[in-house]
Amino acid sequence: MLLEPFRMERMQSTWENLVEFDLSESGVRPLTLRELMAMGFDLDGFLDVPLGYSQSNGTLELRETLTAQYPGATVDHIEVTNGTSEANLVVAMTLLKPGDEVALQVPNYMQYWGVPRGLGATVNTFRLAVERDWEPDWDEFERAVHAKTRLVYLSNPNNPTGSVLSRRSMERMVRRCEEVGAWLLVDEVYLGAEIDSGRTPSFWGMSDRVIVTSGLSKAYGIPGIRIGWIVGPPAVMADCWSQHDYITIGPNKLSDRLARIAVMPENREKCYGRTREILKTNLAIVREWAAGFGGFLEWREPKAGAIGLFQYRSSAPSIELCERIRTKHSVLIVPGAHVGLESHLRIWLGGREEYLKEGLRRVGEELRLLMA
Ligand SMILES: Cc1ncc(COP(=O)(O)O)c(C=O)c1O
Repeated sequence: MLLEPFRMERMQSTWENLVEFDLSESGVRPLTLRELMAMGFDLDGFLDVPLGYSQSNGTLELRETLTAQYPGATVDHIEVTNGTSEANLVVAMTLLKPGDEVALQVPNYMQYWGVPRGLGATVNTFRLAVERDWEPDWDEFERAVHAKTRLVYLSNPNNPTGSVLSRRSMERMVRRCEEVGAWLLVDEVYLGAEIDSGRTPSFWGMSDRVIVTSGLSKAYGIPGIRIGWIVGPPAVMADCWSQHDYITIGPNKLSDRLARIAVMPENREKCYGRTREILKTNLAIVREWAAGFGGFLEWREPKAGAIGLFQYRSSAPSIELCERIRTKHSVLIVPGAHVGLESHLRIWLGGREEYLKEGLRRVGEELRLLMA
C-alpha cells in the first residue's frame, strides 16, 4: 500500500507545535490524567500492573462497557484500536481491494480520500450542500453510490461543517447502501459533542450493512491516549482483528485501562457535558468575531464539534491564505482545500477563551487586508 501525503495532517504535524496559536485542532482541549483519576482511575493501583501486551482487540471489560452504547452489540461486534483513525484504516484494509469503488462525503476529514486510493480503489465524492443546510446533494450521492460501490464513508456529526444528518437522510443513505450492496462506514467520533441540540442518533443498528467507528479523541476530549473502536458484524470484526495483527497488534495496556473509565456511562456523560460547556462559551466568542466582517465571512454555526467553517469572499486560494496567516501571525488554521472545500477556512473552537480570542484577532488582521 502506497499512501499519498495526507495534506492536512502533514501540515499539522509540521507546524502545530511551532506556532504561537494552533487553531487547526479539531477536538476540545483535552482532559488530564488527574481528571480521569477523579472519575475513578486508580493510578496507584496501576503502578504494579506488569506492562505486558494487552488483549489485542481490546479487553473484555472495555468491550463490554462499550456494548452499552450500541444496542444489540456483543463483545464480538467490537474491535478496539489505536484511535479512530486506526479504526478507519483497519476497516479499509479489511474490506477494500484494488479496483473497488468508494463514495466519500465532502467536505470531510480526508482519511478516506488517501487510504482507499492507496489500496488501489477509486474514490467518488458527493457533496454536503450548504444551501440545503448541509444535507447531501442527492444527485451527486446517487451518482457516487452505485452497483460497483463497495463502501460509503461519512463523518456524522461531520468534520468540518459541524452538521448532523436528518433522520430522513440517514434512512435514505442506508436504503441506498442496502440496494447496491455497499458497506456504510460512519465515523461517529463527534457524536456527543452537540452544542445546543440533543444527542446525535447513531447509525448503529439501522442495517447489517452499517459499520461504525468512534473513539475518545473528540467528544470525550481524550485524544492523547489514542483509543478508538470499530462496531460491526462479528464476521467483519474477526477479519478486522486479523488485519490489526499486522499493523499495531493492539492498543496499549494503560490506554485500555483509562478508556474503561472514560466510557463508563456516567463518566461519558461528564466528558460530553464538559465538551458542551467549552463549546457553548467559545461559540459565542467566535460568533461575535465573525460578525465583525460583515458579509465577507459567512458560516453556519456548527451543531456539533469543535470546528467553525467559514467561507470568505475572495478568490485567494485557501492554502496561500493560511500560509500567510501562519508566517505573519504565527497562527495555524486549516485551509478549505485540505478538507475538500476551497474558499473556506477551518478554525478550532475548542481551546481556552483567551487563546481563542488572540488567535482570532490575528487571523482577523490578515482577513481585513484581504477585504481591503
Ligand atoms: C472524522 C474524524 N475521524 C477520525 C479522526 C482521527 O481520530 P483519532 O485521533 O481518534 O485517530 C479525526 C480527527 O480529526 C476526525 O475528524
